[in-house]
Amino acid sequence: MPTSAAPTALSAAHTVLREVFGYEQFRGPQQAIIDHVVDGGDALVLMPTGGGKSLCYQVPAIVRQRAGLGITIVVSPLIALMHDQVGALHESGVEAAFLNSTLSYDEASDVERRLLRGEITLLYAAPERITTPRFLSQLDSLHERGMLSLFAIDEAHCVSQWGHDFRPEYRALTVLHERYAGVPRMALTATADATTRADIVERLQLQDAGQFVSSFDRPNIRYTIVEKKEVTQQLLRFIEREHSTPQGHDAGVVYCQSRKRVEELAQTLCENGFNALPYHAGLDAAVRQQHQDRFLREEGIIMCATIAFGMGIDKPDVRFVAHVDMPKNIEGYYQETGRAGRDGAAANAWMAYGLQDVVNQRRMIDESPASEEFKQVMVGKLDALLGLAEAIDCRRVRLLSYFGQASTPCGNCDNCLTPPAVWDGTDAARKLLSTIYRVQQASGISFGAGHIMDILRGKTSDKISQFGHQQISTFGIGAEFSEQQLRGVLRQLIAIGALAVDAQAFNTLQLTESSRAVLRGEVPILLRQATASAPASRSKRGASGSGSAAKAAIALEGGALRRFESLKAWRTEVAREHNLPAYVIFHDATLAAIAERQPATLEELQGISGLGARKLEAYGAEVLRVCTSA
Ligand SMILES: Nc1ncnc2c1ncn2[C@@H]1O[C@H](COP(=O)(O)OP(=O)(O)OP(=O)(O)O)[C@@H](O)[C@H]1O
Ligand SMILES: [Mg+2]
Ligand SMILES: [Zn+2]
Repeated sequence: MPTSAAPTALSAAHTVLREVFGYEQFRGPQQAIIDHVVDGGDALVLMPTGGGKSLCYQVPAIVRQRAGLGITIVVSPLIALMHDQVGALHESGVEAAFLNSTLSYDEASDVERRLLRGEITLLYAAPERITTPRFLSQLDSLHERGMLSLFAIDEAHCVSQWGHDFRPEYRALTVLHERYAGVPRMALTATADATTRADIVERLQLQDAGQFVSSFDRPNIRYTIVEKKEVTQQLLRFIEREHSTPQGHDAGVVYCQSRKRVEELAQTLCENGFNALPYHAGLDAAVRQQHQDRFLREEGIIMCATIAFGMGIDKPDVRFVAHVDMPKNIEGYYQETGRAGRDGAAANAWMAYGLQDVVNQRRMIDESPASEEFKQVMVGKLDALLGLAEAIDCRRVRLLSYFGQASTPCGNCDNCLTPPAVWDGTDAARKLLSTIYRVQQASGISFGAGHIMDILRGKTSDKISQFGHQQISTFGIGAEFSEQQLRGVLRQLIAIGALAVDAQAFNTLQLTESSRAVLRGEVPILLRQATASAPASRSKRGASGSGSAAKAAIALEGGALRRFESLKAWRTEVAREHNLPAYVIFHDATLAAIAERQPATLEELQGISGLGARKLEAYGAEVLRVCTSA
């Protein structure tokens, strides 16, 4: 195993970074990772969403191919994105190809021929393809001739059942280290807590691999979590306030739990003048692909989606990710929110959650056919997320600490910006638990949250008369608490395990072992003060709104602005001709740098970030023409 970087390899990697990708410098740990892999080491790479994992295998692939070591196989579950990913590499002059079910027989055969002749540098394939006998025999042939250079396993959390996106096909990838023991392997992922990480190492046999764990922080993302009231209205207000300008609205993703909700919300957004599209696994594959393509290729589209959408999406200018339902766990939440602000400019992660979300998620766990052990892990993960939602301190500190990283309050989350008022819910919690206890004693059966709250608040209802529950000694002793306050207390009690929701019995509430300590007043229950108006709705009118602040990331004036706009219009045309998203041709930041420099010659274009040798050759003259005629 290599311990230090070979200087020749290092400079080769740097040359590739500059010439092929047009970037001056490696980001964060990229260089260490790339050195390690170029030298033939195995690696486990954990880097946040948008951190630049692709280059970590693309650069070694090119360096090693140039050194005569052969082909890199990229394992990726992202069939719908392979076309664009490979297209982006072609734009940079890299020989890349993909094999998946979207290719015709002839197209696939052509790729296979080029593969066996060693004409490809990077081959993208889905895991189910890799483990077919046909593909394995092709790999055997390459291996025998010393032409298998590297396996890059992207989205490696898919191998773990503890991850949020388990794909059984990933399990079969053990064949890679068993059959091609000498070929280096790297696994890459953006989200893996300690459990998932350990599972990846074990499943993919990466015990001896170099581990590269970067900071998980995404400082440009502002986290806001609000309590659900009328969530559609809350969402509309959020987008209007933070992400709309007279010129239009930002691109964003809205995650929902159910397909039905996705459809409804997309329609409601459209009715309210937003450009929204639905995306979920129940839609026809062609429709899904079309919606994804439109999201990537057009500006200002809001994608309403289930979690089926988003993995691997490299659209740089997604300005917000909203969750109208609470996801399963922090890993999912963090990966989904991480799709915002990949360009580094200000972006929002906004989530609304409520008691019903907690109940639903618990029910899904309880009703799943999985083992007890599995359920317990899932419950623990859900509780961690609920803890984040209920937190009264810095969200980012909580998020990062979940991934094992210590930090200090960030100043860029709702709790830092507007510290919530806190109230002591210990008394309310005791009264709730003792009501549940007494009702159970009196009636011999359990009841749901609504009924328990009615008793405590001394409300009269048919159900209360029917069961004679006005006789319960706690009837009306919690009249001073609002229903909203009590819901908050119930959520908190469920989160800490002092109450269980029995999904098999109409979501009734059950006491647990840990209820006792709360009943005795030994566990303080501190809660965010529920405000009458929309909670955590910071008034952010004017130029300081994050939407406009983000747009101001590109601040051009006069001639430069004119050139920038002309370049963008030209880019749209090129992207359409090549059937690729605009940002694959050039990022906004690259166009802005060109516009500012006002180049008159090809030499003056050199050294602009994102402008590699191939793009300079292909587009340089056109870019100059557009600039001078703007
Ligand atoms: N050294 C660098 N200099 C400039 N830009 C870079 C550099 N490395 C990566 N980038 C850019 O950062 C963006 C994000 O990179 P990439 O798609 O590899 O993210 P990722 O880590 O795979 O994220 P995800 O987990 O969401 O897939 C890309 O547009 C890429 O061009
Ligand atoms: Mg990626
Ligand atoms: Zn904070």
